[in-house]
Amino acid sequence: MTSWFGCCWPASRGRQALRATSRSINYALGLGITQFLELGSGDPHISAAHAAIAAARTQPAPRIVLIDHDVIVRARAELDMENQPPDWHRSTFVEGNVFATGWMLASLAKRGLLDLDQRVCVLAVDILHFGEPDINVRSVPRRLARRLAPGSLIAATHLADQPLRPPADTGVLEDLRADTARWRRAHHRCAPPHHLLRSPADFASLLADLDLLHPGITTPGCWPEPDNTANPRAPYTLAAVGRVPEHSGHAKAHNARPQARQRTR
Ligand SMILES: C[S@@+](CC[C@H](N)C(=O)[O-])C[C@H]1O[C@@H](n2cnc3c(N)ncnc32)[C@H](O)[C@@H]1O
Repeated sequence: MTSWFGCCWPASRGRQALRATSRSINYALGLGITQFLELGSGDPHISAAHAAIAAARTQPAPRIVLIDHDVIVRARAELDMENQPPDWHRSTFVEGNVFATGWMLASLAKRGLLDLDQRVCVLAVDILHFGEPDINVRSVPRRLARRLAPGSLIAATHLADQPLRPPADTGVLEDLRADTARWRRAHHRCAPPHHLLRSPADFASLLADLDLLHPGITTPGCWPEPDNTANPRAPYTLAAVGRVPEHSGHAKAHNARPQARQRTR
C-alpha cells in the first residue's frame, strides 16, 4: 500500500488549499491574531501555514502549532526544524490526534503552546473529511467554539460530492461525480485514513456553532469571494471561515481541567 502522504493529490487542488490557507492567515494577522494552530499539518517544509507564518512581518511575531498524528510526519518535522533560520522557530510541531479536540486543546494550553484566553486562528484545511465514521466530526468545530476565546477564527475545507450551484449542463454534474468516484478509488489504494464526502448542507451543519464570515460557504480557490464556477471539477472542495461567537460558552475555568476532558472526544 502506498504511503498516505503526497498520494493522489492533483496539483491544482494543492494550489487551492494553499491559497485558502494563506488568505485566511493574512486575514487573521490583519485582525491582530498572533496564535495559529494547524490541524493535520503534514510536513512543515510543504505546509502553507508554516510558510505564511514564517514570512509574516507583523508584530508581535505570530506563532503556529502544527499538529499531525503521523509518526513519519513527526520524524520529518524534527529534521525540518533542525538548523533552520530564526523565523522557522515560530512553528512548533506536536504529534497528536486532532479529532480528540478537548484533549488536544487542554494539552497545548498546559504546555504553554496556546493561550486559550487569547484569540486563535485554527486551520482545518483538508482534515475534517478524514473523520472516520465512528468519529463525531461536528464535535471538532463545536469544541473549538466552546474552548477558544470569542473572535477566534476557524478556516475549514471539506471534500464534497456535489457543487454549491447545480451546473446548467447535467453532463458536467455527471462528469464531476464520475471523476470524484474515480479519484476516491485511487485514493483508497493509499494508506488510511480515507476521505468521507459531504454535501454543502452537511458541511454547513458541521460549522453551525460558528458565525460564518462573508460569503459563507464557498470554495478554497474563491474565498473570500462566492464561488460562481459554471463548470465545477473533481475533487470538489468546500471552504468557509467561521468566527467563534461571544456566547460560545468560553470559560477560563473550563480551560484549566485537562484530565476531565481527556475522556471525551
Ligand atoms: C491532506 S494533508 C493536509 C495538509 C495541510 N493541512 C494542507 O493544507 O496542506 C492531511 C494531513 O492530516 C493528517 N491527519 C489525518 N488524520 C489525522 C488525525 N486524526 N490527527 C492528526 N492528523 C491527521 C495526515 O497525516 C496528513 O498529514
